[in-house]
Amino acid sequence: MSTVTQSARREHRVTARSLQRRKGKAEAFSMLTAYDHTFSRIFDEAGIDVLLIGDSVGNTVQGEESTLPVTLDEMVYHCRMVARGARRALVVGDMPFGSYQVSPEEAVRNAIRLVKDGGVAAVKLEGGEHMQETISRIVRAEIPVMGHVGLTPQAIHRMGGYRVQGRGDAAREQVIADAVAVEAAGAFAVVLEGVPADLAREITERLAIPTIGIGAGVECDGQVLVLHDLLGLTDWTPSFAKTYANLGALASQAARAYADDVAQRKFPADEHSYS
Ligand code: KIV
Repeated sequence: MSTVTQSARREHRVTARSLQRRKGKAEAFSMLTAYDHTFSRIFDEAGIDVLLIGDSVGNTVQGEESTLPVTLDEMVYHCRMVARGARRALVVGDMPFGSYQVSPEEAVRNAIRLVKDGGVAAVKLEGGEHMQETISRIVRAEIPVMGHVGLTPQAIHRMGGYRVQGRGDAAREQVIADAVAVEAAGAFAVVLEGVPADLAREITERLAIPTIGIGAGVECDGQVLVLHDLLGLTDWTPSFAKTYANLGALASQAARAYADDVAQRKFPADEHSYS
């Protein structure tokens, strides 16, 4: 590939830096989770700005009840598939539970692994004030960090379930303090999950970095949805999510039609057979 073509491509690539220029714009940007090459390519070509290899892979793909069992090796595996499918989107890999809580040193080592072996251009981790040191150490290792505050699924046992955060004065102040701490630590963007819309608006106005909402109202700088919710691939969709297509029903219909054709010896027909 010529240098000109390479740099033309690079110009269009969404980066942590270019995403920061989307702060405060009338047009919000979009982030979706992806866990494999197929959906990475489809979403990238559809113009999705950020692809997140979420540790939600635990619930959506692995059938676990929470994100806690997901390992770093599994994240690397999924990140690599997604990174290969994305030409324009910024690819962000989630740091799984246990990969960054023990010490900032271990967090830096594991973030480097997601970049080197997983091919991601940024990492995301959960937590606010108590993660400030960890975030700044990873940023100092030249890896852009996306924060994640409010409802943080890896803290399910502390929260006592997946509950909306930031209701009531003290809880509200804590979410604000967490978001401010994440920004001060050098994160380039922050996910606000499961917080009242007016709190997300206040944080969005206060921070200089983009906010990305999920269950946080319409006034964030960007929005994120989980692939399986977007495409109707789960039995249950949370109330904050919108299902834009029902691929689960289509897949089931296709499988039933195939099984019927096989049973009745209608498949394979002559055109599907070698002479
Ligand atoms: O793991 C995930 O999919 C996430 C998003 C919901 C933000 O963290």
